[in-house]
Amino acid sequence: MRFLLCLLAAAVAASPVTVQQPFGEQVEKGDEAASRRLHGRFLHITDVHLDRFYQPGSSPSKACHRGKGKAGYLGAAGSDCDSPYALVNETFDWIEKNLKDQIDFVVWTGDSARHDNDERIPRTESQIEEFNQVLVDKFVEVFRARNDPTGNLLIPIVPTIGNNDVMPHNIFTKGPNVWTKKFAKMWKKFIPEEQRHTFVEGGWFWSEVIPDKLAVVSLNTMYFFDSNHAVDGCKAKSEPGYQHMEWLRVQLQLMRERGMKAILMGHVPPARSGDKRSWDESCWQKYALWLRQYRDVVVGSLYGHMNIDHFILQDMHDITIADVMDETSGLQDPSHDDDNDLTAQSRTSYLASLRDDWSRMPSPPPPILEDGWAENSPIDAQDKKKKFMKQIGGPWAERYAVSLVSPSVVPNYYPTLRVFEYNITGLEDSLTWALARNRSQPDAVVSKKKNKFKIPEPPSPAAPPGPAYSNQPLTLLGYTQYYANLTRLEADKSKPDNPRKPVPIEFEVEYHTRGDDIYRMKDLTVRSFFKLATRIAKKEPDKADRLDGSIDTTKKKKKKKKKKGKSGKTHYKNKVWHAFLNRAFVGFLDDDDLDEIASID
Ligand SMILES: *[C@@H]1O[C@H](CO)[C@@H](O)[C@H](O)[C@H]1NC(C)=O
Ligand SMILES: *[C@@H]1O[C@H](CO)[C@@H](O)[C@H](O)[C@H]1NC(C)=O
Ligand SMILES: *[C@@H]1O[C@H](CO)[C@@H](O)[C@H](O)[C@H]1NC(C)=O
Ligand SMILES: *[C@@H]1O[C@H](CO)[C@@H](O)[C@H](O)[C@H]1NC(C)=O
Repeated sequence: MRFLLCLLAAAVAASPVTVQQPFGEQVEKGDEAASRRLHGRFLHITDVHLDRFYQPGSSPSKACHRGKGKAGYLGAAGSDCDSPYALVNETFDWIEKNLKDQIDFVVWTGDSARHDNDERIPRTESQIEEFNQVLVDKFVEVFRARNDPTGNLLIPIVPTIGNNDVMPHNIFTKGPNVWTKKFAKMWKKFIPEEQRHTFVEGGWFWSEVIPDKLAVVSLNTMYFFDSNHAVDGCKAKSEPGYQHMEWLRVQLQLMRERGMKAILMGHVPPARSGDKRSWDESCWQKYALWLRQYRDVVVGSLYGHMNIDHFILQDMHDITIADVMDETSGLQDPSHDDDNDLTAQSRTSYLASLRDDWSRMPSPPPPILEDGWAENSPIDAQDKKKKFMKQIGGPWAERYAVSLVSPSVVPNYYPTLRVFEYNITGLEDSLTWALARNRSQPDAVVSKKKNKFKIPEPPSPAAPPGPAYSNQPLTLLGYTQYYANLTRLEADKSKPDNPRKPVPIEFEVEYHTRGDDIYRMKDLTVRSFFKLATRIAKKEPDKADRLDGSIDTTKKKKKKKKKKGKSGKTHYKNKVWHAFLNRAFVGFLDDDDLDEIASID
């Protein structure tokens, strides 16, 4: 290992000599793969939904396939239409120009194919394959090492299967199946060779994106997805969901033993609030328990699918061990919802129910929130603080875990991309993925034993808090949310009224979690999200969180009808809740729309 690092150091130095590589390969000076170092950034891209049948100038009410209407050249912002080729080409061009040399890996959370949204053009297996292949080719084109004739990639790409990447949508049978086989082939460059067999069996794998340090685990959420009627949760041993969770447990244990950390990613997020249950309850239970027990290993969890920008807090108090263990009794699933008609209305009530959940979290005693957890508070405040800390699981809020849901490329609102920053202190000279490629990798461990369900081991009591909880190497520090304002881009071009005219895309910063003066998140630890959620949930926001000191008249009127006694009070709009909603819909909705949504309680 030390030997390798010395060579690496030599390879990145501006030395004119060619450096001998451990495996007998010659690396020329200027070799892209060899000179590549960690940047502490990665791209999360999701829900591209490419549609070859998209016609600029057609009608969004006809899936942008026919008729005359406002379908733009780069897409129909705010519609249910899928993405035209032009949007995909432009987006990848933009990634190549602006991100290619600045990121360490790509998290790609699925749904690359168009929806089955037009009975005149039904989807076929070959279309789904075609659209997925187009995106694979785009990634390879952008991220291949230029002077490597084998077309090897410079950085790892970690994909996962979305509910629209299979046919019929949502339905995914136990593997091996036609789709795991197709994707194993298509993703040859992305799935480590020694895991291809496992992938064909279940559609899950992991990639060691920073050798010996960080893995990205691609979960096959199709086996957890409540709308997948071909499988039945994670309770029965015969179910692929059960096997998936067992595999995950073994991998996380292995990573703990190797001192590695893991980012989990998948397509369908573990949304579980109000009426919404995206995952089968037994899968959610195990997932939450795994997150709890491997809280020293898991860096964070990233998802797509819902097309709205938001985050989810998993509360470990919702884990009921009996439910996790019981393999026979059927758990009550509150409702099965078909995720295909996620209307603005259902999205809105989902967001409102998240807020409602957050308003019931333990609230910090006021002086402590404001003085930034100072130690020298009066005795009484100290007691309150202690009690509060205990309620949230200690100073790092270990009672909770966070899942982050990125908005989509497909312009349900505006097209988006998300770039994360993570802590690389002390990792600057780490071996990179591209250089470790030829190193033999440890075999993927698959649990063969059919022993009884095991509750995973918690971290050793001596272990420091994990990277999701306290800022350390690999902790997620922040993200920049990019979006392309199609309204402006399409209006800018000197058309007039020629939607077929090419427009170059331009992604701009919507917000940045660290630099932003509303979210003000110093990092993306669970504690930071807990604080943000608390501020979003406040019905009576602190002074700093009032929307320009404005009085919320709409709410006052409504309150009068609903809640007596409160009508006399002045209500202020919560700036943080407004920003959260505004961002959920990528800035697409205007103030009136937002006001209406915001007043739902
Ligand atoms: C998109 O790029 C592909 C090549 O990657 C090209 O064949 C196609 O014509 C392009 N389409 C548009 C609309 O730009
Ligand atoms: C890895 O091995 C392949 C073929 O075995 C070779 O073409 C490639 O250059 C090697 N890459 C590195 C970074 O050593
Ligand atoms: C990264 O973690 C280290 C602790 O290991 C900390 O000192 C440093 O400030 C962190 N870096 C950033 C940019 O937050
Ligand atoms: C998008 O552009 C339109 C037209 O220029 C503008 O009115 C709107 O405020 C912009 N929206 C965002 C979120 O940038």
